[in-house]
Amino acid sequence: MDIISAMQQRKSTRAYLAKEVSRRDIEDVLFCAALAPSAINLQPWEFIVTHGEEKERLVRRLLKARLERQVKCGPGTSKPLPERISRRAKEAMAVMEPHISASGHTFDRFIEEGSCSFYGAPVAIIVVIDKIFPVIRYLDVGLAVSYLLLAAQAKGLATCPTGLIAAYNDDISQMLNISEDKEILIGISLGYADENSPVNAFRTKRVDLKEIVTWFE
Ligand SMILES: Cc1cc2nc3c(=O)[nH]c(=O)nc-3n(C[C@H](O)[C@H](O)[C@H](O)COP(=O)(O)O)c2cc1C
Repeated sequence: MDIISAMQQRKSTRAYLAKEVSRRDIEDVLFCAALAPSAINLQPWEFIVTHGEEKERLVRRLLKARLERQVKCGPGTSKPLPERISRRAKEAMAVMEPHISASGHTFDRFIEEGSCSFYGAPVAIIVVIDKIFPVIRYLDVGLAVSYLLLAAQAKGLATCPTGLIAAYNDDISQMLNISEDKEILIGISLGYADENSPVNAFRTKRVDLKEIVTWFE
């Protein structure tokens, strides 16, 4: 698959088949993630891979933590977003909601429980950065995450970046022995998409380029 097709076809997948991903395939996508560029080649990303019983243990802990703390999905900003931006999230929700309802779930619960259980994907990858790095280096990690998502797509695998789990960083750190020096940035669900699930039957839209690009010529 060429890179443009992978970009066009990738989407966040929220239902997975009960089919294992081989160690070789997991390593392939991580190898591609590590090909991402980074400032002075610092490669500040680190990946913690869980699958099998360890992933189930992590999911059990996250679901318990969710019941106790009920963290909501949100933009994480300290001020309300301007309307032209918050509209993008509302539009995405409007696209997603009917499909999620069709699967018998309420939207918030589906997203919150789903994120905490990596939507049933057989593999959960936790992405961390050493706290020694300034926030700008998170950008480098974001590039590596993009590479990972696209490499997975090109190999016929599906993914969902799950930022919500970072709210439960203490639980994750304890379960996976992650030192206090590391910041948990995001989780990535990885597996084979359940193409028959209604929750995978939509695609979010993007704003027109004119909304996000300024030209000087
Ligand atoms: C940094 C980041 C955090 C995200 N966190 C979550 C999450 O916690 N739960 C979830 O279901 N989707 C999450 N997503 C997926 C977004 O909802 C999704 O990328 C967006 O709606 C665009 O849809 P698409 O990925 O299908 O193109 C996240 C995506 C990114 C990039």
